[in-house]
Amino acid sequence: MNAGLEGQGRTRIWTVGPQGSTGNNRTEEQGSESGGVRLQGSGEPVGSQPSAPSTAQVALSGGGDTARGESLSREDAQAASLLWMEDASIREAAALLAGGAQVAFPTETVYGLGADARSTPAVEGIFAAKGRPSDNPLIVHIADRVELDALVLEVTEADRKLMDAFWPGALTLVLPVRPGALSPRVTAGLDTVAVRMPDHGIALALIRASGCPLAAPSANRSGRPSPTLAGHVREDLDGLIDGIVDGGPSGVGVESTVVRTNAAGGATVLRPGGIPAEDIGRVLGAEVRAVSADDTADVDPAAAAAAGQVLAARGEAGPPGEAPRSPGMKYTHYAPSGRLEVVLGAEEAAADEIRERLAAARERGEKTGVLAFDEHLESYRDLADVALPLGSLLDLRQAASRLYAALRRFDEEGTTYMLAEGCSEQGIGSAVMNRLSKAAGGRIHRV
Ligand code: TXA
Ligand code: MG
Repeated sequence: MNAGLEGQGRTRIWTVGPQGSTGNNRTEEQGSESGGVRLQGSGEPVGSQPSAPSTAQVALSGGGDTARGESLSREDAQAASLLWMEDASIREAAALLAGGAQVAFPTETVYGLGADARSTPAVEGIFAAKGRPSDNPLIVHIADRVELDALVLEVTEADRKLMDAFWPGALTLVLPVRPGALSPRVTAGLDTVAVRMPDHGIALALIRASGCPLAAPSANRSGRPSPTLAGHVREDLDGLIDGIVDGGPSGVGVESTVVRTNAAGGATVLRPGGIPAEDIGRVLGAEVRAVSADDTADVDPAAAAAAGQVLAARGEAGPPGEAPRSPGMKYTHYAPSGRLEVVLGAEEAAADEIRERLAAARERGEKTGVLAFDEHLESYRDLADVALPLGSLLDLRQAASRLYAALRRFDEEGTTYMLAEGCSEQGIGSAVMNRLSKAAGGRIHRV
């Protein structure tokens, strides 16, 4: 089922929503899937997850909606998952996963492409569909803490504190892997495995119903922005995977925070994400070190090489400080096909810089785009062919939830030169700036 790329028609689509599944008709066009449509709206940036079928009590269950998620208890996702397990579509998707298939599903961060983490052929199907280099390890998703024992050798006190505080949720812990427990392709030969428990009823139900720990990287082709809608998954992987569960928009919008704790009770953030480093520090009561963009674990060599070729074709070097061997390496995840640059600085100076650069780009005949906070967007409209809102400056969670869809939207619109407003690296702003910087190939203008 997972071997080879069998082309169009292979991918089943299940749309699940408040009324339960709408069946399994892949030819039915789902309005909710069209990537980017929501971006122009000025309303809530993130959607709520569909409720599990036939129960009112867990109508918002599954968490993940960070704009409103505080009021939801973590138990809700677990409760919703039990109900989702009764859903015919979820059962079908889970049965495929149990049989070694690759199925994309929503999580509270981004859509993941899942497969049985214990099966090497199943996991190889993920790498093949994504075009992902085999030395980039995958995150394993579990639904219950008791599953951890079978997968890892040791969980420290610090790990336990973080699980208590953030699971289910957008926190991935790097732990010593139990030999033989997982396909070596999952860990890329490392002696550690990255594990998380997603805060999403559908994701938890699929894990439970399949009976598999699910290896699940973001469900995009390598190098493309991660998918926050099922439509994004379809754009990238239709015909290359066995199925897609469409559960509406994911909430957080950026991936989980990848963390490794240390013997001193502190931790290192290997990839900033949905859970802010500050929150992790508060829970641990110890130092939390952030790995800089230069030595981040979130490196995709194939995408970097591809983008390096693009840069080379343009006669450009990569960002300063990069080894000449790989121009653009490590910074080229999520890159749109036009040239993206980020402007960071005091409000007025940054706005002036953006206006100047947009005007100059127009002069050169570029199709221009701008990605800016709601408070400033109007002031760029006359200079930008495509102006996309990042949400309010006062709530960077909105920017996180909109970022990837916006990058995809630029590609759809065919913009050739885009500017994005940078933001503070406080809280989730750290993840937003990390992804923006990568999408921009490290081109950040500080003014
Ligand atoms: O939110 C998320 O984490 C999403 C959803 C689908 O759960 N998944 C995701 O997976 O972002 P992926 O494969 O796109 O990113 C996995 C990240 C990479 O940065 C990888 O290098 C890191 O986790 N990673 C995996 N295993 C690791 C390990 N043993 N040690 C260090 N880093 C690891
Ligand atoms: Mg990814």
